[in-house]
Amino acid sequence: MPSVADGAITPAVLPPWAPPASPAEVALGEKLFFERRLSRDDRFACSTCHDLDAAGTDSRTIGEGIDGKPLRRNTLTVFNAGLSATLGWTGAFSSLESQAMASIAAPAIMGADWREVIAKLQGDAGYRADFAAVYGAGPTPVTIARALAAFQRTLVTPGSRFDRYLEGEETALTPSELAGYRLFREIGCISCHQGRNIGGNLFEQFGLFIAPGAGGKQDDPGRQEVTGRAADRNVFRVPSLRNVALTPPYFHDGSAETLGRAVTVMARTQLGRSLDPADIDRIVQFLGTLTGEYQGRPLRAAGAPQE
Ligand code: HEC
Ligand code: HEC
Repeated sequence: MPSVADGAITPAVLPPWAPPASPAEVALGEKLFFERRLSRDDRFACSTCHDLDAAGTDSRTIGEGIDGKPLRRNTLTVFNAGLSATLGWTGAFSSLESQAMASIAAPAIMGADWREVIAKLQGDAGYRADFAAVYGAGPTPVTIARALAAFQRTLVTPGSRFDRYLEGEETALTPSELAGYRLFREIGCISCHQGRNIGGNLFEQFGLFIAPGAGGKQDDPGRQEVTGRAADRNVFRVPSLRNVALTPPYFHDGSAETLGRAVTVMARTQLGRSLDPADIDRIVQFLGTLTGEYQGRPLRAAGAPQE
């Protein structure tokens, strides 16, 4: 039976604060999301790294940027990003618009020159008509970012079994999934992974009790890059756990290959606890109930068969 404590997590719904986007604006944003001409030499689209058929990510430990060099951190999914208060592992961006503009221009990601991007889209009669219809103007960095953001705000995955449980469907979870949820609350995972995105709204030290992978693993400036404060070293945005079963590997450095491993590390580093394998399994089962639906179908993991 959902109880008062469930209020810490709320169902996934389209954000009411999002500026209402017209279907034409969303369609333009979708077209741009798959558009390689937004990158240097027309090689990368947003979808190159954020594969919507692979739960919005690239399934790699650390992906590669357009310059052929490893990216700095593991690729986050774009699904439900619009539900988070800040974006990126370090919370470097506060809107989908600013994140999109930065991805296009960053030499290490898409490496584009804005003047070239605008010229390419301006030279395409289809885009000229789309931008004129939606914005009454040609493509600019701002309108490109607005369209991409409007599309990404539709990448919400409601309808997970856990959302159905929160909405009152008591039998949506099996007894062991429910036991996993109870543990998730009782041992305190929920103190950090909470809200409508089950994360995405707090910044916390990774390694409160034990440095992750103590011995060997490099430390990471984390949020210090954004705030300049030494105290923010190794501090990260608490990631959303929606669809987490579909997005291995885990952590900013992709160091946990399985969800069981990620839960084991979390319990040790964030709560100072060593969980027995049965409890880890229950929590993993609970996390599996956070997989939602996109366009009416369950979100797919990389390599899952097409229906
Ligand atoms: C070369 C791979 C790559 C490409 C191309 C790429 N991204 Fe990303 N994206 C990443 C990585 C890596 C992160 C995590 C960055 C970080 O925080 O360190 C990320 C993070 C994000 C996030 C934040 C998600 C969250 O929950 O915080 C959004 C939104 C996003 N990208 C949108 C886009 C859009 C829009 C485009 C196209 C304009 C794009 N990305 C192109 C690799 C890529
Ligand atoms: C004190 C805050 C805090 C607590 C408590 C906490 N977490 Fe986390 N969690 C984080 C942070 C911060 C990260 C990001 C770590 C990083 O930099 O990679 C994270 C990452 C994760 C990830 C990886 C997500 C991804 O996409 O890579 C999982 C899974 C996870 N936590 C599950 C749990 C579980 C299960 C518990 C309880 C056993 C828990 N967390 C307790 C803060 C917390």
